[in-house]
Amino acid sequence: MDEYLLEAKDLSVTLYTERGELRVVDGVSFRLKKRETLGIVGESGCGKSMTANSILRMVPAPGKISGGQIIFKGRDLSTLPERKLRSIRGKEIAMVFQEPMTSLNPLMTCGRQITEALRAHEKTDAKQAKRHALELIRLVGIPMAERIYESTPSGLSGGMRQRIVIAMALCNNPDVLICDEPTTALDVTVQAQILRLIDELKSSFGSAVLFITHDMGVIQQMTDRVMVMYSGQAVEYLQTEELFRKPLHPYTQGLIACIPGKAAVGHDLPVIKGTVPTLYALPKGCLFAPRCPYATKRCRCERPGLYGAGRHLVRCFQYEHKEASNSAADSGS
Ligand SMILES: Nc1ncnc2c1ncn2[C@@H]1O[C@H](COP(=O)(O)OP(=O)(O)O)[C@@H](O)[C@H]1O
Ligand SMILES: [Mg+2]
Repeated sequence: MDEYLLEAKDLSVTLYTERGELRVVDGVSFRLKKRETLGIVGESGCGKSMTANSILRMVPAPGKISGGQIIFKGRDLSTLPERKLRSIRGKEIAMVFQEPMTSLNPLMTCGRQITEALRAHEKTDAKQAKRHALELIRLVGIPMAERIYESTPSGLSGGMRQRIVIAMALCNNPDVLICDEPTTALDVTVQAQILRLIDELKSSFGSAVLFITHDMGVIQQMTDRVMVMYSGQAVEYLQTEELFRKPLHPYTQGLIACIPGKAAVGHDLPVIKGTVPTLYALPKGCLFAPRCPYATKRCRCERPGLYGAGRHLVRCFQYEHKEASNSAADSGS
């Protein structure tokens, strides 16, 4: 049996715009094991959502997958016929987005939306589907399930709506759950509740999770391993525990230094100076060089590869000839 459930190999996504071609995801590779949670983290605009959307070939126009493979249970999703992909979407791989209304119909009752999601992939009679839907509504922590079953999402709070989306995502027992900033649009207290809920359900459903966020605190709480992205590329790939103990890439170090509470007492929160480069005019050398406190002449004219030992990989010339880490980020491979 394959140890890896989902594997992206050298994945690229290109947007074909009037101003030219933009490589928004550039040669990204990652692997997800059964039951594990892999985080993707990086500032806004670094290609996290494009990476997530490409897995089920849901990259919005004017974009498409322009290279690489997405292997799921031995099949390449990037070339699978649309009809076959449809049977995987929402069943074997499900998604939860930042904005719950992306996935919900405002005018249809929550109950009907869940039962339709159930019956899209499985032949069950209406009565059975209703019983299952009510069970799911209770499972995602909603009291008075019967009432919510009959309500439309428009009358619900953001947190309640996201619970309904999670119920729909889990209704067919997916092998992989992709969460793209699922709590970013919610109030802080609701955020914590939803994160706890995803964590609990992940264990009870046995799903592997690809968890996308710009928030290092969420990464720490939710993930086993992490891919740090910058400007469409993976710049570091490591165990979550290692991420907070010994981040190696200057960008990752900057992200961690920006976490409130990590700044030295009496000092302002440090910031990573500068901004993400525009994809229309990428630097010639390392994409992070213009913002990097350690950038050398070489960094400004040559692109570094991903270097490292085991699975702790880092895209920085400082580690070209060094063993990046003693612990492999996914030991056992
Ligand atoms: N329609 C579009 N035209 C031009 N650029 C776009 C378009 N949609 C997305 N992008 C660019 O694609 C890049 C990746 O976006 P995205 O994956 O949404 O980033 P993230 O999820 O990390 O915030 C960004 O630089 C964004 O500006
Ligand atoms: Mg995004």
